[in-house]
Amino acid sequence: MQTAALNPYDSLTAMFTRLREDIATIRERDPAARSAWEVLTCYPGLHALMFHRFAHACWRAKRRWLARFVSQFGRFMTGIEIHPGATVGRRVFIDHGMGVVIGETAEIGDDCTIYQGVTLGGTSLTRGAKRHPTLERGVIVGAGAKVLGGFTIGADAKIGSNAVVVKPVPAGGTAVGNPARVIAPATATAALSPAADAKAADAKAAPARAAFCAYGITPNADDPVSLAIHGLIDHAATQSQRIDEIVAALERLGASLEALQGADGALVDLRRLSAAMDGKVEEAAR
Ligand SMILES: CC(C)(COP(=O)(O)OP(=O)(O)OC[C@H]1O[C@@H](n2cnc3c(N)ncnc32)[C@H](O)[C@@H]1OP(=O)(O)O)[C@@H](O)C(=O)NCCC(=O)NCCS
Repeated sequence: MQTAALNPYDSLTAMFTRLREDIATIRERDPAARSAWEVLTCYPGLHALMFHRFAHACWRAKRRWLARFVSQFGRFMTGIEIHPGATVGRRVFIDHGMGVVIGETAEIGDDCTIYQGVTLGGTSLTRGAKRHPTLERGVIVGAGAKVLGGFTIGADAKIGSNAVVVKPVPAGGTAVGNPARVIAPATATAALSPAADAKAADAKAAPARAAFCAYGITPNADDPVSLAIHGLIDHAATQSQRIDEIVAALERLGASLEALQGADGALVDLRRLSAAMDGKVEEAAR
């Protein structure tokens, strides 16, 4: 078996790509972020992830003391404690961050958002067991929430601020209170009907949510027209993602699809459309 040689240039390029992606994510999700420079210098959530990547690499290389030391130094600098064994996906945003604690066996999927004071903690002392939660893609955890135990929070779920979550939350669900209960009506049906299950699975697979809802708030949640249009936007986003996947697969098979690529400019920008629906005039105009 051939092993790829570790090329320092590739590692550096990957590091800068991730950093650029993280900065873009923060600018997109925090209306207070004014420039890339401000994000790079003033966002402890970004710094904590940089420390964590280094600590996690040491952990995987079995340099356990060094990993813990880097992690604790990161905590001293940022107020955010991420155990070096924790797995953190891409485009994760830890906003404000002070007091966040993420345990050793926690797994955080891509595109998750975590606010200050969140604990992804454990309730068992069994060494080597999965003691901390898994957040699937796109989960938002509100300020001060505690998610305790080795269960899964489904894709795109929202955890209300100060909630204490001790059981799994289904994909797309909203959990609030202590102990947390699931309040979003769509979630109640998700556990019952196969169609809703399929929808939840779709949500799990869909990387391209039409728009990020800052603070987990559902804009115009009680306006049926807005909800219907948001449903259509989400559907169009899923279709467009599938078409992209089909095009990529055809290209891998050698098909030339220049005409299709040329049509990209004619597509509706779903993110802007969604922002316009929510009355976010500046975002819609960008
Ligand atoms: C949980 C949350 C995502 C729900 O947002 P939403 O989908 O827009 O839901 P609504 O605001 O319509 O609230 C629905 C119900 O849940 C209740 N609720 C909302 N957030 C709650 C919370 N954190 N704890 C307890 N109950 C809460 C509301 O009172 C309402 O109850 P009602 O139906 O009896 O009136 C949101 O309230 C939240 O807590 N977001 C995190 C925000 C945050 O941490 N910000 C930090 C910024 S620094």
